[in-house]
Amino acid sequence: MRFSLLSILFGLGSVASVWGQTNTAEAFFASESPIAKTGLLANIGPSGSKSSGAKSGVVIASPSRSSPDYLYTWTRDSALVFLAIVNQYTLGLDNSLRSQIDNYVGAQKIQQQVSNPSGSVSSGGLGEPKFHIDLSAFTGGWGRPQRDGPGLRATTLITWAEFLLTQGNTSYVTNELWPIIKLDLDYVASTWSQSGFDLWEEVNSSGSFFTTASHLRSLRQGIRLATAIGQTSVVSGYTTQVNAVLCYLQTYWDSNGFVNSNKGGGRTGKDANSLIASNNLFDAAAGCDTTTFQPCSDRALSNLLQYVDTFRSWAINSGIATNQGIATGRYSEDSYYGGNPWYLTTLAVSEQLYNALTVWKAQGTIKVTAVSLPFFQRISPSASVGEYASGTATFTTLTTAVKTYADSFVSIVAKYTPSNGGLSEQYTKTTGAPTSATDLTWSYASVLTALDAREGVIPASWGAAGLTLPSTCSNSGGGGTGGGGGATVAVTFKVSATTVWGESIFLTGSIAELANWSPDNALALNADNYPIWTVTVNIPASATFQYKYIRKYNGVKWESDPNRQFTAPASGSYVINDGWR
Ligand SMILES: *[C@@H]1O[C@H](CO)[C@@H](O)[C@H](O)[C@H]1NC(C)=O
Ligand SMILES: *[C@@H]1O[C@H](CO)[C@@H](O)[C@H](O)[C@H]1NC(C)=O
Repeated sequence: MRFSLLSILFGLGSVASVWGQTNTAEAFFASESPIAKTGLLANIGPSGSKSSGAKSGVVIASPSRSSPDYLYTWTRDSALVFLAIVNQYTLGLDNSLRSQIDNYVGAQKIQQQVSNPSGSVSSGGLGEPKFHIDLSAFTGGWGRPQRDGPGLRATTLITWAEFLLTQGNTSYVTNELWPIIKLDLDYVASTWSQSGFDLWEEVNSSGSFFTTASHLRSLRQGIRLATAIGQTSVVSGYTTQVNAVLCYLQTYWDSNGFVNSNKGGGRTGKDANSLIASNNLFDAAAGCDTTTFQPCSDRALSNLLQYVDTFRSWAINSGIATNQGIATGRYSEDSYYGGNPWYLTTLAVSEQLYNALTVWKAQGTIKVTAVSLPFFQRISPSASVGEYASGTATFTTLTTAVKTYADSFVSIVAKYTPSNGGLSEQYTKTTGAPTSATDLTWSYASVLTALDAREGVIPASWGAAGLTLPSTCSNSGGGGTGGGGGATVAVTFKVSATTVWGESIFLTGSIAELANWSPDNALALNADNYPIWTVTVNIPASATFQYKYIRKYNGVKWESDPNRQFTAPASGSYVINDGWR
């Protein structure tokens, strides 16, 4: 099904020579996807050929036992690998995988109950990132907690459950799957706003885009499943949190045209984190929705371009035209194993673009906005803002350019895949030689998901289409236990301002806590440390708001435009240092 008849008859090499052209991406997928499938299954217990010792249904990250030692099972990687497997089975692409899915369910049910350094099942243990492959707890030092695992696992199991419902298998879903899913969703609903480590296990902050995206999808899809099987008691609480998470997801956007992937960490923020998140949030029914960061949304495309461009200075990319695919890694400041391109991050670029093409073709139109214009102009210099229906020359020009660009990233991966097809974690930024862990399960999964995307496979919808941003996001924070709404954080405003005798500085802004732009009710700042004026205000956690300082003397004098904007952290406290302007 995946190969054209000609490629089966003649072999790929001869197709190239017979027709005088070949598509490297197509040839790569034809040869690599069976290897990737085999390599992936080899890393799953109990009978995978490279995962001896792994319990039934346990995914090892890689068989590598030193430099690095990856012979563990990560909740995140396992859930992503099994989402790919669930999709393959439920979409009818591979009917041989059902027992693997059953084994995964069994393993996760056990793993959830294993007490570990993050806690027990009821006290935070679900946020533990990795376990030994016999499912015992890993007790060494590690970046914990990582709050994406439970939501990702819930998404995989919900996707499986919703398929089983279409088969009439309601009792298994209600009695076996729902209790496992509910533990994860309750964890997400009560802890999403707390700090934790990002998917690369490095930055501990009050939020990481990929992690927040995992919370959004799992809760949203979970509400739908709960409703379908009559578990309605969770619906109202989860709905409150979904709205808050959707608000929070918006706060990662940087108006310079990219997602700032972490709420801390001191980096540019341009990170494969956000591309992988976009692919995980893909829901063709949502079109090119920006709020849920769909692959074809203008923000996701602008972000993709800026992410790619951060890797241009690597030696491996020298001399490659700026409208062509290059080797990309996690983020530009990466130094792990020297900081290199990864197979799965380079393929994530292609996957996002293939997903985008699927939607443009399905909806019969492509839109270029001011936000996505730099992306389109890079690959099609005459592109301009507008909406173009299929059938127009511009639609064809733009979609063809996107397809060519997407394929060119696959060509890079093809170029640096060793002849036996084995995929490690990374390939070096100098020569492209494979490095770090061998046979990385997630690398193999990324080949399968990128190929499915290229073939226009549409995964089941997760409910992105009906989601709308609440009209006000200012009360959105606080996923604390017992439901959100009330949590606040202490934000200290400091502004440096010289004043004349008798003149004072006040603060007002767009939320009630800042007196709703009222100069009369504006908050007075104290001048104990003149010329620094200070006031501390309790602001709803995660609230995004605008504000200005004002001077009062003979009348009111406002700061010059534009309004200042800030998003309160999800927890803790924060100090803003401003200068009067
Ligand atoms: C429901 O699905 C489970 C998991 O695959 C399976 O074990 C069970 O036999 C199915 N039940 C029915 C009635 O099909
Ligand atoms: C992560 O950050 C939180 C909040 O700042 C802090 O309480 C926690 O101790 C940090 N965890 C680690 C392992 O550094």
